[in-house]
Amino acid sequence: MVKLLGISGSLRKGSFNTALLRAAQRVAGPDIAIEIATLDGVPLYNADDETATGIPPEVQALKARVMTADGVLVATPEYNSGVPGVLKNGIDWLSRPHTDISRVFAGRPFAVFGATPSGYGTALSQNAWLSSFKHLGVSLFGGGRVTVSKVHELLDDKGEISDAATLKHVADFVQGFARFIEKSRTD
Ligand code: FNR
Repeated sequence: MVKLLGISGSLRKGSFNTALLRAAQRVAGPDIAIEIATLDGVPLYNADDETATGIPPEVQALKARVMTADGVLVATPEYNSGVPGVLKNGIDWLSRPHTDISRVFAGRPFAVFGATPSGYGTALSQNAWLSSFKHLGVSLFGGGRVTVSKVHELLDDKGEISDAATLKHVADFVQGFARFIEKSRTD
């Protein structure tokens, strides 16, 4: 069994990226369990607050979930051709204190995918994440790309992603990520 933590980079109730994680949950298959976390309640990073009161409980709880997962699946929106502030803020908090980077991120399998109503499938945002993920030393899955464009056209009447080709692509990606994790266990 491979246990993944899916982190949605959107706080929106009807988020397409959270829907993408739910689609991954549905199609992953019996050997892959995906829990979904959102960044609800994570405050804006302020070093003064960190000095005064330490790491907020919401961040500590998320950190614990990251560290007990076999891998982290990040669903990123794209804002202004880059990463969304909410998700960057969440990752920045997870990297505090600085000395925790090694136990939270270093060598941990990460994969990034995303969905957008626009035409480029969050490709620019996914690429923009590379710099931070390299800095944090994650073991980034490079075995495929899921860049879901025009996602609003791929939904059923409950707002779930139902397009068969997209679901197949998501299944291949998540299963490839799980194999990458399993291989890294035995290397
Ligand atoms: C966007 N959106 C967007 N989409 C995109 O593909 N490329 C972009 O550069 C941007 N830029 C952008 C900036 C800002 C400030 C907002 C609010 C939105 C649209 C974005 O993809 C859309 O709002 C998605 O629905 C966001 O993801 P969730 O919330 O559905 O997961």
